[in-house]
Amino acid sequence: MNLFRKRTVQDFKESTEGSGLKRKLTAFDIAALGIGSVIGTGIFVATGQGSQMAGPAVTMSYVVAAITSALCALTYAELATMFPVSGSTYSYAYVAFGEIVAWLIGWNLILEYLVVAAAVASGWSAAFIGVLDAYKIHLPEMIIKTPLVGGMMDLPAILVVAFITWLLYLGVSESAKVNNIIVIIKVSVIIVFIFLGVTHINPANYHPFAPYGTKGIMSAAAIIFFAYIGFDAVSTAAEETINPKRDIPLGLTICLGVIIVLYVSVSFILTGMVPFKEIDVNNALPAALSRIGINWGSALVGVGAVIGMISTLLVTVYGQVRIFMVMSRDGLLPKSFAAISKKHGTPAACTVITGALTALIGGLLPLTVLMDLCNIGTLSAFIIVSVGVIVLRKTMPDAERKFKCPGVPVTPVLTVLFCFYLMYSLPGVTWIRFAIWTVIGVLIYFLYGIRHSTLNNKDKHSNGISDNV
Ligand code: ALA
Repeated sequence: MNLFRKRTVQDFKESTEGSGLKRKLTAFDIAALGIGSVIGTGIFVATGQGSQMAGPAVTMSYVVAAITSALCALTYAELATMFPVSGSTYSYAYVAFGEIVAWLIGWNLILEYLVVAAAVASGWSAAFIGVLDAYKIHLPEMIIKTPLVGGMMDLPAILVVAFITWLLYLGVSESAKVNNIIVIIKVSVIIVFIFLGVTHINPANYHPFAPYGTKGIMSAAAIIFFAYIGFDAVSTAAEETINPKRDIPLGLTICLGVIIVLYVSVSFILTGMVPFKEIDVNNALPAALSRIGINWGSALVGVGAVIGMISTLLVTVYGQVRIFMVMSRDGLLPKSFAAISKKHGTPAACTVITGALTALIGGLLPLTVLMDLCNIGTLSAFIIVSVGVIVLRKTMPDAERKFKCPGVPVTPVLTVLFCFYLMYSLPGVTWIRFAIWTVIGVLIYFLYGIRHSTLNNKDKHSNGISDNV
């Protein structure tokens, strides 16, 4: 068996044709999909946690994480437009490095999508409980806390995932419409926060600016990276986009530009309004507004956050469904997952399985554990993307690249260094969990994927000659 057998771009095109997925997403849907995916728990919840690690210099952490994300986006956009098919980094790795690497990437993308979705559901639940508390409605602890912190399960997180799964089951165009409305709401409440907060900055709160030094800034950046995860979700929709080669790089650029400005402004204003040690880690933005007496603003931002995180969840679960679907189509997961419902034109089995797993993880594990895991998985996937850009420039020099990453090989090498530094800044226990996750992935590949891969048929037909690019 050749562990490094590869797929060709043509392979992906063939397996896509006749898949039943409809090309109906427009450029606006794609841009909104990116913003919808990225802005969520990170800004509404993780800002509070990051500020405890870095102090007011959490703004710098946002900048470091933004530079890392922008670098990743540059390398990512080159691959996404080279292979406008579903499946994200997984598909690119199949072409660049071969099957076992692709499988491991796909396995890591589960951390990026499924675990991120679970983390966002958990963050959504925290914000939702914050809104209910403000109206003096208190839910029993047993149904809002996960087992590790003395409860039974996080029921609001489970219910919100069930709702999203239902939307996706009905079909992508309906979901994209809901997503567009939600994106407008969440960007609006962030702008409201900026306008209300900016006049209440107390410069004394910026001293000392970096109480925990560079180490604090970098540890916070490693957490804050979570706030940027999701910009690549747009490329998982390539298969359903009307003009992927034009819309995807454009969508990524607009999406990251808007987000960086919003995040840096929010973190700067928040740490100027409230002494960093007093920032509410579960409900940072609404709590900051009620502290300065603007209760209507607090309620508006709280409700906006609760509605806004729904689109993050929507796009993230959507991305995971598509990745599972492509992996099943390739035989690395059971093929029955990939069946498309005739009525709705969506992968029904994949959607339901993804929803169930997300609800289970989000309902049982606490947010901080989930966030660390997502970040290590995502950063490692982007390292492979960056290496892939360099390798493919050598192995497929003539392939059409609608978007060419500038400054190769310097840009991808810098991307790898930034990603490594952020991974290095994560706690040791996260590395151990990541290692265990990887070992489980390798076992599944050798017990299942290697035998069921559709490339086995090709290997037989070509008398064992692997079909490299
Ligand atoms: N970037 C996404 C968020 O902040 C995952 O919620």
